[in-house]
Amino acid sequence: MSTRKRILTGDRPTGRLHLGHYVGSLRARAQLQHEYETFLIIADLHMLTTKNERSDIDQIDENARQMVLDYLACGIDPDLVTIYLQSAIPEVYELNTLFQNLVTVPRLERLPSLKDMARAAHKEEMPYGLLGYPVLQAADILTPRAHLVPVGKDNLAHVEITREIARRFNYLYDEVFPIPEAMVPEVGTLVGTDGQAKMSKSLGNAILLSDDAKTVRKKVFSMYTDPNRIRADIPGRVEGNPVFIYHDTFNPNKEEVEDLKARYRAGKVGDVEVKEKLTIALNNFLDPIRERRAQYESDTGFVDEVIYRGTLRTREEARATLLAAKKAMGLTGVWNRISRRAERRRKKLEKQEAAV
Ligand code: TRP
Repeated sequence: MSTRKRILTGDRPTGRLHLGHYVGSLRARAQLQHEYETFLIIADLHMLTTKNERSDIDQIDENARQMVLDYLACGIDPDLVTIYLQSAIPEVYELNTLFQNLVTVPRLERLPSLKDMARAAHKEEMPYGLLGYPVLQAADILTPRAHLVPVGKDNLAHVEITREIARRFNYLYDEVFPIPEAMVPEVGTLVGTDGQAKMSKSLGNAILLSDDAKTVRKKVFSMYTDPNRIRADIPGRVEGNPVFIYHDTFNPNKEEVEDLKARYRAGKVGDVEVKEKLTIALNNFLDPIRERRAQYESDTGFVDEVIYRGTLRTREEARATLLAAKKAMGLTGVWNRISRRAERRRKKLEKQEAAV
């Protein structure tokens, strides 16, 4: 048995991942997997809080597959981590029901993240399930009794709710849950190719981890730079310029980057050279990721096997946790007593019947 501390984190299955995911979470996960016993959730029940049409659900399968391929391509080791499908763990629904009583409606209503999600999904009124999004997330995190939850800034408040639920549970019943810590990457969110604050597939400003070299080139060459610099001999702004943010993030040749910056500031380099060098840096960065992706992809059924194995494994954990929670609450006792008495009575009646 492993005594390492545990991580739980994951994503809703929305499909292929991009550079922002790499910087914001995948890189940290690949590093932490050696130190922590890691559980990665494919949070399809969370997806249902905003997208629950049959056509959405029919895409979970393929989206989950693509997402897991991206995990593995980025160095997440299928022999080290447990990757599982949330909707296939019945105990998560049960824990969710128990946890709903440990948080108030106003506490949830105050969360800006939920309002943002409702707005993004064009919901006029808050769906009950969406209001409970952080409670369900608490059920996820507390299922393997995780200690650490690496998440983006936008999920920080949900981990805080989880901590409150865990504390409340432990206080009311018994010490069943560790109080998990959130871990937010120091590097800020990666800007989109259009200069918007966040890279996002739905905003159409993302470079996917599975984009081929030509696509990357096209995306880089259409990138937003310094809008005031209409000619190469005009001094340009490096700070906040997405092209240079990407150079800083993905180009390991710091000398080249500093040289480009100096010449850009002085009006002595064209966008084409800056972007050509960025294209090369990004493709160099993505090449090993593409290679690993292709390898895993060529092994038909491998990703399914990883999710299958991880889900069975997580069910075992979930069973044990739910049982511990119900015991602490005294719920198992209620049912045990009722069933014991009922069975005693059945046996008695059987005996009487046999006697006549
Ligand atoms: N809320 C996460 C997202 O924004 C997905 C998620 C669901 C999650 N359950 C989790 C993340 C538990 C960390 C821990 O997509």
